[in-house]
Amino acid sequence: MELQAAFDLLLSSEKPLDEMDTVIWQSLTAGASGNQHPWTIGCLMTFQKTGEQVSYPSGRTVVLRRCDAASRTLDFHTDVRSAKVKEMEMNAGAVCWLFYEPSTKIQLRAQGFATVVNDKRADAAWEAVSLQGRSGYLSMDPPGQRSLSQQPPSTADRFVKQLESERGRENFRLVRTEVQSLDWLYLRRGGHVRASITYDQKGSSEVSWLVP
Ligand SMILES: Cc1cc2nc3c(=O)[nH]c(=O)nc-3n(C[C@H](O)[C@H](O)[C@H](O)COP(=O)(O)O)c2cc1C
Repeated sequence: MELQAAFDLLLSSEKPLDEMDTVIWQSLTAGASGNQHPWTIGCLMTFQKTGEQVSYPSGRTVVLRRCDAASRTLDFHTDVRSAKVKEMEMNAGAVCWLFYEPSTKIQLRAQGFATVVNDKRADAAWEAVSLQGRSGYLSMDPPGQRSLSQQPPSTADRFVKQLESERGRENFRLVRTEVQSLDWLYLRRGGHVRASITYDQKGSSEVSWLVP
């Protein structure tokens, strides 16, 4: 179901909080399946330590690749050499996802702990990455490396045939976030609504309304 319609239907029910968790995870699952869903693309935030004292929040756009409602996990793919991987590892995997799309005015924040996966699950994910998608993992120099030339760095090293694209596997990782809490906000015309869900170790959840 379309994002806004799903939450409008939920809010019209007798006890919306009872199904809030289910509808949020159904929407994330729809986002992970692509099909132009507003939650296919999110912003992932980490902490970037820039000095002895200061850590700045650091956000970037990532594609939600997989979602598992039962284990409350969200996956994205990345290059292991990227700054975000170091930032996650330096902060015990603490991350925050943000999903938002202006036409619906529904926002979701998901805090949790991310793990960098490089086993058979990453092999299977890599197999499904298209040749074009693999170009994101094929740069000879690490992503984010500074270049002193007048022109932007060449990307010619990324346009290769299928067989050569296999070298990208070395850089490819699946990153899985286990969600610990959600903060959902809907700027509804008839009145704003906000809810929070927190999960404990056993997987049970506590759902409550918040003042929007
Ligand atoms: C539409 C869009 C989708 C993106 N998807 C991803 C992604 O799924 N994984 C990823 O690592 N970077 C993705 N990026 C690039 C990141 O936003 C970011 O620029 C890059 O990963 C470097 O981030 P870092 O230096 O903070 O690690 C995407 C960028 C855009 C604009």
